[in-house]
Order: sequence, then structure tokens, then C-alpha cells
Amino acid sequence: MPAVSVFGAQWGDEGKGKIIDRMAGEADVVVRYQGGANAGHTVVVAGQKYVLHLIPSGILHPGKLNVIGNGVAVDPLKFLEEVDGLRQRGVRVDGTNLRLSAGAHVIFEHHKRIDQAAERWRGDGRIGTTGRGIGPCYADKAARIGLRVSDLLEREHARSRLRAALAEKNALLRQVHGEPELDLEQQLECYTTLAHKLEPFVGDTGAQVREAYQAGRRVLFEGAQGAMLDIDHGTYPFVTSSNTGVDGIPAGAGFPARWIERAIGIAKAYCTRVGEGPFPSEQHGELGARIRTAGNEFGATTGRPRRCGWLDALQMRYTLGWNGADSWIMTNLDVLTGFESIPVGIGYRAGAQSYAGYPGARVGIEDLEVVYEEFPGWSEDISAVRSYEELPRRCREYVESVERLVGVPIEMLSVGPERDQVIPRRPSPARARAGAR
Ligand code: IMP
Repeated sequence: MPAVSVFGAQWGDEGKGKIIDRMAGEADVVVRYQGGANAGHTVVVAGQKYVLHLIPSGILHPGKLNVIGNGVAVDPLKFLEEVDGLRQRGVRVDGTNLRLSAGAHVIFEHHKRIDQAAERWRGDGRIGTTGRGIGPCYADKAARIGLRVSDLLEREHARSRLRAALAEKNALLRQVHGEPELDLEQQLECYTTLAHKLEPFVGDTGAQVREAYQAGRRVLFEGAQGAMLDIDHGTYPFVTSSNTGVDGIPAGAGFPARWIERAIGIAKAYCTRVGEGPFPSEQHGELGARIRTAGNEFGATTGRPRRCGWLDALQMRYTLGWNGADSWIMTNLDVLTGFESIPVGIGYRAGAQSYAGYPGARVGIEDLEVVYEEFPGWSEDISAVRSYEELPRRCREYVESVERLVGVPIEMLSVGPERDQVIPRRPSPARARAGAR
């Protein structure tokens, strides 16, 4: 796998952490290229649970190079907390196995405050952000008043950049949000001290990843959040502020698009979403609660209960399509054990209008009603199954029906949180043809 992209194909929380951790065994370099500590990638190794927010999930494998690219919004406090937490648990983390781009934008205290305050102003239009300062940090990047990691490493330069940024942010905090202002010298002291601690990790990560690739190293790109939260192709404005799919890699990692050989989507056997925004196949009431309990669907970053619903084949075709996915991995299949009947979304309706594909050109998808096809469930525990043939017949029928409806081959199933709880699938000519499209 010379250069492979692994991305979330739904609204995030698809189980990417576990899959990346597993695939990292065969990679040399694992790269995060977008998002920030809004992500929560859970990895379970030998019964031990690790939740990673910023550091690539490859860190749990000795000897791998882990990279935080320039497209990531970095909260230095969170970065150092995560490094310390891993070290305390005996994981080796230093400037040789973890690199941080000098060009990554820094999340400051004012970004977090503005993120939370802005949500209060949005009223019914609130996004339900993680409150980690992601949106305001990317907004400053685009407005060219942000500070990158490298800007913090030279104190006088940092003072002048931060002075300019804080002049505007303090006016906003005080006059619009009614919050206390932040003191320039105090913030400068705090963030330059933190930056000093970051220094051993900092470098030109784009050059390092390109060199590694050209020397024959295998590079794995770890997407955070999900394709439906992509700022360009997701359910705008209820999205995060970065390009969460394959589209984020060239800009966010400094890696040429044409070097990416494979793209693999990750999606649950059902679907979840945290925060606000449209989710056509959401199940309210008892069914949603049942999925939530079965899947322990609570946010890894904020602890919020996740909204739960059924897999939506149109939504999946849409995200796998615009990312050019060669295949996908279905996670949390074990969670569906015990459901008598499992619906899958196969179409949308709005009044007299019906849709057989994701209506990307529509203003919104809030009012869509989903048309479902129902598949019979299975009752056997599948968490210890390791070969596809050993799965209950109805479970295999579910997987194959979903694959047919989505039109992209499923290359692996995940049936539990542990590294080895996976079921690889053998490629069949028909599935390979579907993947080739
Ligand atoms: P932000 O990324 O904190 O600005 O939040 C924007 C939207 O993306 C909100 O609906 C969040 O709940 C959602 N979001 C951000 N990160 C994640 C994630 O890692 N998993 C799932 N949803 C996320």
C-alpha cells in the first residue's frame, strides 16, 4: 500500500481509529492532514483503551513515523497532554516518531471562547460544535490573521502577529459576546512557552512525507470526522471546517494528489451523527435509543449521546463516489445482532418528488423522507467470528445486500473494538468490477 487514504464515509465516528491502528502495522508513515482535537479516535489494544484526538493512530505501533500535517488545527495544550498521557502509559513518543508541521495553524484560547460564544448567537441554526476552537481557527487561517506553529517559535514575531489578531478578537469578545478580553502578554507567554515544548517535534512534514514516499515507504492518510462533515461536500453549514475526505490530503499534508493510489471509506453497519444538522435515516424514540445502547454511541471527544439511525445507501454512494473509494470497511456489524429486522435507506421522497440518488444540488436535505428496504436480522453473537463463511447466513445476506445497494466492494468487516476483531473478505470478480467503476 504505497499511499492510501482512509476516510470516514458518514458523519464521523465510523471506527477509523481502530482500522488505522490495524493498517498501521503494514504502513511506515501515518499522517493526519485536517481537523484537530475535535476528533476522537478510539483504539483498543490488549484490552487497553486509548482515545487519540490529535496524534495519528499509528503511534501505538513501535517504529512508525506519525505526522501531523500543515492542514491540522493544533491546540498545543491538547497536543502536549496527549503526548504526556501516552508516555505515562508506556508508549514511546518523541521527535523521531512524531512530527508536527511548522505550518500547522495554532488554536488559541480566543478560538475556543469564540467557538462557544458564536454557538449561543446561532440560536436554532447552532451547529453543535465540539467547542474546541476548530471553526474560528480555520476562519483566521483563511482571513490570514492566524498564527502557525513556526510563528510561535520566534518571540518578537509571535508578539506582533498575536497583537494584530488579539486586537480584533478582543473587540469581538468584549463588544459582541460580552466576554472578558485576553491579555496579550499573558497569552504570548503561555503560547510561546508551549511552543518551546513543541519544538522537538516541529519540522517540514510535507517534505518528510514526500521523501519517505519516494524512498518506497508506505504512507497511510488518516482522515478525521466524516465525508458528510466536509466543508465543501457535506451538509453545509452543519459541517466541520476542513476537507475531511481524500480532498484534504494534497493541501493538508503537502502530498501530490496523483500519488494517492487507493482510497478506503469507513462506515458503520448503521449510521450516527453528533451535533446538529440533517440526518435523513435518523431513528428517534425507542429504536434510536436501542441502537445507541447496543453500540455505546456516546462521543469520544465530548461524551454527547450520538444520534442513531440506519445505514443510508444513497448517502454512502455519494461519499464513496466523490472520494473515488476503491472499497470500504463496514464497522460495528456486531452491534446489529439481535435486531429482528434491519432497514437500509434506498431512496428519498419529498412530497411528490422522489430521488434515487443523493440530491447534492438541493438546498438542503432536512425535509427528505427515506424509503427503506428491510432485511431480516440475526441473533447469533458474531464478535468472535473471524472468517466470512462462519457468519450467520442472514448476516452475510445483509452485508451483501448493502454492498449491492452501495455499489462499492466491502473489503473488511469489524465485529468489535479489539485489533483482531475483523473479518477480511475475499475479492470476487463481480465486487472488483463494482469497485473499478
Ligand atoms: P467542530 O468540528 O467542532 O466545529 O464541529 C462541527 C460539527 O462537526 C459538529 O456537528 C460536531 O459534532 C461535528 N464533529 C466534529 N468532530 C467530529 C468527530 O470527530 N466525530 C463526529 N462529529 C464531529
